[in-house]
Amino acid sequence: MKVTVTSSSGKEIIKGGLELADSATVADLQEAIHKRTKKYYPSRQRLTLPLQPGSKEKPIVLHYKKSLKDYTDGNAGNLTVVFKDLGPQVSYPILFFWEYLGPLIIYPIFYFLPVYQFFGYKGERVIYPVQTYALYAWCFHYFKRIMETFFVHRFSHATSPLSNVFRNCAYYWTFGAYIAYYVNHPLYTPVSDLQMKIGFGLAVVCQIANFYCHILLRNLRGSGSGGYQIPRGFLFNIVTCANYTTEIYQWLGFNIATQTVAGYVFLVVAASIMTNWALAKHRRLKRTSLLAVVTMRTLLSERRILSDLGLNQTTSVFLHALSCCFSWTLITRHMHILSDCIGSIDKSRRIESNDIDVDKLFDGKEGRPKYPRRWVILPPFL
Ligand SMILES: NC(=O)c1ccc[n+]([C@@H]2O[C@H](COP(=O)([O-])OP(=O)(O)OC[C@H]3O[C@@H](n4cnc5c(N)ncnc54)[C@H](OP(=O)(O)O)[C@@H]3O)[C@@H](O)[C@H]2O)c1
Repeated sequence: MKVTVTSSSGKEIIKGGLELADSATVADLQEAIHKRTKKYYPSRQRLTLPLQPGSKEKPIVLHYKKSLKDYTDGNAGNLTVVFKDLGPQVSYPILFFWEYLGPLIIYPIFYFLPVYQFFGYKGERVIYPVQTYALYAWCFHYFKRIMETFFVHRFSHATSPLSNVFRNCAYYWTFGAYIAYYVNHPLYTPVSDLQMKIGFGLAVVCQIANFYCHILLRNLRGSGSGGYQIPRGFLFNIVTCANYTTEIYQWLGFNIATQTVAGYVFLVVAASIMTNWALAKHRRLKRTSLLAVVTMRTLLSERRILSDLGLNQTTSVFLHALSCCFSWTLITRHMHILSDCIGSIDKSRRIESNDIDVDKLFDGKEGRPKYPRRWVILPPFL
């Protein structure tokens, strides 16, 4: 198969194109581009199908696991792809490791070392218990996040632009230093014992809950798959982004106990960032469900046709499996929701009698599932 690689302006990136086996995958093509260009390793490459001139549609992005044949549109001998350089990339665990390492190191510097002498405070520094507990809470939080990055999260994207390392480190490292400076300050005034206990108590409970939320998110993806599903169980039955909710409340607990303006500024900034992300995630999950309904419609009409043709269930399952192979990405993304739908539909046995109304798929009536109504991030406000 001959593959022509062009830029978005139509200029050929690899002179003469590339000759690849008919069975080649997109990953093989990316490797071949890397071999020829040396500079553009696979995760730096974004390959799309060319658009018609003047088209306003979003281009189709080639998935590295798919066969090139899937994109040839009947013309199996030739394929033209549009190449975009995404710039230097860094893996997600490395990105997160560097952004969390900063606060983990910077905070104890303010607690243990005589840094305040450089700010003009020469006297003896009294360390209150709340400052020591705050150090433990802070370090545990960032240590936990590094551990989760390497051992819990299953990221859908392998890499992120290198520039994000600098942006994210600036955010976490600066806030780390800002909060550490005030909480460990020689003129720091501690809160009451009761307030400290309530604050740290809330923070500990939220840390545990946040960890459990991350385990539930991890379980949504088998190793290797990267789709999105509606999280279920524990706080996810109430809030779409329960991991962000618990993160926000853990910082609220920390601030109740330590009570600094710096800490509350961080809480407001972090909460607004997470709220924006949560709104986007909530929208995406709702779309996922809509897509699942569309897929279900296709599935149901397919079954109806088969039934009209007098074909049996086994043939139906075989043909469905075949269609799954062609829409693999869609099906894996919605497998969980689909299985829910299929389960309840099969239970009601109405599918066999062909009188199911797909518009009522998520109406919650007569044993049918109800579309989960959830808060986005901060019940009872949002
Ligand atoms: N203090 C702050 O400013 C701040 C800001 C943000 C986050 N955080 C903390 O850091 C933690 C991780 O942040 P994050 O933004 O990476 O969290 P996240 O997007 O909610 O995801 C955590 C992991 O779960 C996966 N995931 C999320 N929703 C999923 C779904 N519906 N189906 C399948 N997998 C799903 C994500 O995959 P993908 O790779 O596809 O995303 C990621 O691997 C948060 O929970 C929070 O505790 C703190």
